[in-house]
Amino acid sequence: MRRRRVFMLFLITLCLLCFYILSLFYVDIQTDTFKSDFILDRDINRNLYVDSPIERGSVCKPQDNFTFIKCMKCGTETLGTVFRRYGFIRNLTFVLPVEKRLYLGWPYQMETYDYRPSKLGFNILVEHAIYNNTKMSKIMAADNKFITIIREPFSHFISVFYYFRIHHITNMTSKDPVTEYLHNIDKYETIYKSHQASKTRYCIPDGFSITKNLLSHCLGFPLGFPVGQQNIASHPQAVAEYIAKLDKEFSLVMIMDYYDESLILLKQEFCWSFKDILYLTQNKGSYGNVQSLKTPENLRLHKEYDFLDYQLFDHFNKTFWRKVEEYPGNFVAEVRMFRQIKSDVTKFCSINDAKSTEVFQVTNNLYTDDFEFEAKECRFLRYYFLNKLQDINDQYVGKNGVKVSKLSKALC
Ligand SMILES: *[C@@H]1O[C@H](CO)[C@@H](O)[C@H](O)[C@H]1NC(C)=O
Ligand SMILES: *[C@@H]1O[C@H](CO)[C@@H](O)[C@H](O)[C@H]1NC(C)=O
Ligand SMILES: *[C@@H]1O[C@H](CO)[C@@H](O)[C@H](O)[C@H]1NC(C)=O
Ligand SMILES: *[C@@H]1O[C@H](CO)[C@@H](O)[C@H](O)[C@H]1NC(C)=O
Ligand SMILES: *[C@@H]1O[C@H](CO)[C@@H](O)[C@H](O)[C@H]1NC(C)=O
Repeated sequence: MRRRRVFMLFLITLCLLCFYILSLFYVDIQTDTFKSDFILDRDINRNLYVDSPIERGSVCKPQDNFTFIKCMKCGTETLGTVFRRYGFIRNLTFVLPVEKRLYLGWPYQMETYDYRPSKLGFNILVEHAIYNNTKMSKIMAADNKFITIIREPFSHFISVFYYFRIHHITNMTSKDPVTEYLHNIDKYETIYKSHQASKTRYCIPDGFSITKNLLSHCLGFPLGFPVGQQNIASHPQAVAEYIAKLDKEFSLVMIMDYYDESLILLKQEFCWSFKDILYLTQNKGSYGNVQSLKTPENLRLHKEYDFLDYQLFDHFNKTFWRKVEEYPGNFVAEVRMFRQIKSDVTKFCSINDAKSTEVFQVTNNLYTDDFEFEAKECRFLRYYFLNKLQDINDQYVGKNGVKVSKLSKALC
């Protein structure tokens, strides 16, 4: 009798347990199909994006004034679109290259004749320029913040190598040009930088190395370019001091290898919303498998050559993850939510044309203010704003103010 009771009890417990486990699975399956469908319905959206009650912290003021140091092949064109869109929508003023140029003096120091004048001062600097705190702080707003993005140096090198067609310009015949280059850097660098090769290079002046400490150069390290300038590369103390200075002066150093994570930190730093940081990936070269080229020997040779960029990267990779640790919120959940919204908006934009009146809504989201994304705004995700901004400035300043100066050394 007693045995039977125990048995019954056991059976009931087992059933309850099974039921519980099944219900867990059921919820999982539910959310999965739910997520894979693209749903525009507002109520369903609300269900998708809310996972706990809304409770926002203190109100902050969105950052309108900032300088973005843009270095080649770090996903900066995508970020450039984000920043130009942010300022364009709000009628903010940009530091813009003269005529239809692309660079603000890069790879030389930016001079006053490299940018267009503005009657309203400047809110935003995005285009290619070499970081110089003194110079930039002078023309930017009082509450200007400096930000940039860097990248793991080896994959950066591979990207630069193919984008700037170094193997073609140096007439390399090897089947493995990267390995060939790394074993004979001096030889190929000399050819690439020579005046004879100038016609085949794109926007790169004679004597400038595109593969040696490029990130450091963009961030203003004095590295002996142009000839006659100071070079601190072989002075560890000066290098350490310069990195410490950057650490102090930059509000945020993003990392391309952690792109969405970087944007979440940016959103926090700038008090922006998910809508502000939405992007479509672009200008993304794919050059075989970086991992297969990253042999221990290639890596060793590259580290030896590009040593400052490695030091820079290691430092700011550490500060990056420290910021993630100190993030005042659920960082992982926020990154996941951002990816979800980004992918939903991408789908939304692929099925709605510019004339559509559909609206993508995010409401009651734990991680962002409510926002609406109208179908007609989709074009802003793809738009090449630079020329548009230059046209606006043309009307504003008059054609005489924007001609390329004879003094300008930059090629683009
Ligand atoms: C920006 O300028 C345009 C044209 O002058 C104006 O219609 C628009 O309202 C302005 N937008 C903002 C956010 O001030
Ligand atoms: C940075 O700008 C200041 C002010 O224009 C200038 O004096 C200084 O030489 C610049 N730094 C470099 C490394 O060119
Ligand atoms: C940006 O700078 C301008 C000019 O200095 C200033 O008027 C404005 O309040 C600043 N914007 C923000 C959001 O702080
Ligand atoms: C590479 O080859 C082309 C065509 O043969 C030649 O014109 C050019 O001078 C060569 N470049 C170098 C750097 O040797
Ligand atoms: C960056 O730092 C993290 C955390 O310390 C580390 O796991 C990761 O390997 C580093 N990234 C690279 C590309 O070195």
